[in-house]
Amino acid sequence: DAHKGDGETLTLRAVPDAFTLEIVTESSPAVNTALEGLYLAKGIFCTQCEPEGFRRITYFLDRPDVLSVYTTRIEAPKTTLPVLLSNGNLIESGDLGGGRHFAVWSDPFPKPSYLFALVAGDLGVIADTFKTMNGRNVDLRIYVEHGNEPRAAYAMDSLKRAMTWDEKTYGREYDLDIFMIVAVSAFNMGAMENKGLNIFNDKLILASPETATDSDYERIESVVAHEYFHNWTGNRITCRDWFQLSLKEGLTVFRDQTFSADMRSAGVKRIQDVQMLRMRQFQEDAGPLAHPVQPQSYITIDNFYTATVYEKGAEVIGMLKTLVGPEGYRKATDLYFERHDGEAATVEDWVKCFEDACGRDLSQFRLWYHQSGTPVVEAKGDYDAAAKRYALTLTQKLGATPGQPEKSPMQIPLRLGLVGRSGAALPLTLDGENAAGPEERVRELTEAQQRFVFVGVDEEPLLSIGRGFSAPVHVKTPTSRAGRAALMAHDRDDFNRWEAGQALATEMLLDMAEAAKTGAAPKADNIYIDAIGRVLDRAEDDMAFAAQMLTPPGEGELALSRAPADPEAIHAARMALIGAIAEAYGPRFQKLYDGLAGSEAFSPDAASAGRRALRNGALRYLTAAGDEAAAGGAESVQHAAAT
Ligand code: SER
Ligand code: ZN
Repeated sequence: DAHKGDGETLTLRAVPDAFTLEIVTESSPAVNTALEGLYLAKGIFCTQCEPEGFRRITYFLDRPDVLSVYTTRIEAPKTTLPVLLSNGNLIESGDLGGGRHFAVWSDPFPKPSYLFALVAGDLGVIADTFKTMNGRNVDLRIYVEHGNEPRAAYAMDSLKRAMTWDEKTYGREYDLDIFMIVAVSAFNMGAMENKGLNIFNDKLILASPETATDSDYERIESVVAHEYFHNWTGNRITCRDWFQLSLKEGLTVFRDQTFSADMRSAGVKRIQDVQMLRMRQFQEDAGPLAHPVQPQSYITIDNFYTATVYEKGAEVIGMLKTLVGPEGYRKATDLYFERHDGEAATVEDWVKCFEDACGRDLSQFRLWYHQSGTPVVEAKGDYDAAAKRYALTLTQKLGATPGQPEKSPMQIPLRLGLVGRSGAALPLTLDGENAAGPEERVRELTEAQQRFVFVGVDEEPLLSIGRGFSAPVHVKTPTSRAGRAALMAHDRDDFNRWEAGQALATEMLLDMAEAAKTGAAPKADNIYIDAIGRVLDRAEDDMAFAAQMLTPPGEGELALSRAPADPEAIHAARMALIGAIAEAYGPRFQKLYDGLAGSEAFSPDAASAGRRALRNGALRYLTAAGDEAAAGGAESVQHAAAT
């Protein structure tokens, strides 16, 4: 027998070196409820092939390293399925008679089967165009259910900004004549980067001022960009096998995070990403499911679309960028695109581009891909006033995780600065340097314990370490409350200002909760109230960031820091703190609130969203003060949001 087939496999025997194989497969999309392969939902035929859905459509070498050129002919009834889409460029379409029509799509770029897509349905569309950096015109289309067209406008705007950004930031130009997005309501993943035909869960495309919050708009902007960015990081250069998943996902998450940081408040974006990382990835790394960014084995690959592969993977890219600097980073990514375009590549290929482009040995750095768990870095500073020397001792520890009892020290880039009591940035001068050093430096911790000495330090400094959250580690610093308050007020790094404020508020709130348990009235520390005043002084500089600074740690987060937690005491403490801030700055919140009153029409842009965030932050305190007028204000904001 020349071939043998069953439901799962097809075996061909005694084949010549070259041959054409024709396979005719019948499938029933209507009964495919897995939402993988080709399925029918709400009258729309749609595909999802990552990671292993294509094998549900036909027999195939369904591995990401098998790159092929696809031509797709779709035939369907005209009235119920007027829109027929697949990857690439439309090369032919027309009538077949009998109420049927056809379309032929051809994608000239070789791709793995997981990037195949097909959509057939009765859909509305919005259209636009984009002129690329080399002057090519690209048609842009977003397909939605009829009636939803106006709600796709923000997604279209986000797409064009993402295309421009990728040209400027990475030199990446779009490569087909058309780029399409289809938004469907039945979709397992958030969205999928199929070549030229991205498919989205419609909640990540559709938004209107009546129903969407500012964070909905942010999410749409970032996911549209993420899927678009995959065109180069994932599609043009794909993964050799699924163990390399972070090669495309970690990198593409890093790219979308940087894009959002450029579009909006970079400080707030970093804070949100770190909050998410700590909540989801640090938990994963600390539990029975801990696994490295590059897993060594899996039972089904579907289980590996994790926070570790995506978000920790993105942090690893961020560390590489910190280690080689922005110019080195661009050189390395240029080399990566040049060297591996059209290939199914590996994480090792990626790291090698950094070594070759920047002349660095990254042997130790590779451990970030192989060791799971979250390192703990402890920092201890010693100031010698007579010698004007500040010695920083850093230690790192990484505990055992499932399957990894022993760990080696990691290469941890720590961005740091020294801050004087009055808030001035102090120069970081190394022993042996004869001129004052810069106000910020990156030091690399590579051993279990290391000492870094800075000279010419005129006063006892406050340490600002891990600026911008420069490594995905727990950092422990023995900073006093006064020190944290000073950093909260003055650190030049937004992330560490926020971090210092949160750490101070957490310590204080846990003490207040203890007091509340005994029945005493919890009292807030003035040191924190004063630092909030410094935040208000600079509130207009970056309103979204100020709003973030004005938000004390949540009750859930506080409850995690104490076992057993006492939710009532925590609630009482947090309310007391909010009340104390409200009382201290009532008139300033009122002035801020009134000054930010917007009469202009709603706009989802970042600056307007920042104004709204700060205005709502001010309102939060005005309502806490129990002010009648504020209650009226709250009602009218509610009303404005509902109309
Ligand atoms: N590859 C898809 C994405 O990351 C699936 O989640 O967008
Ligand atoms: Zn992705």
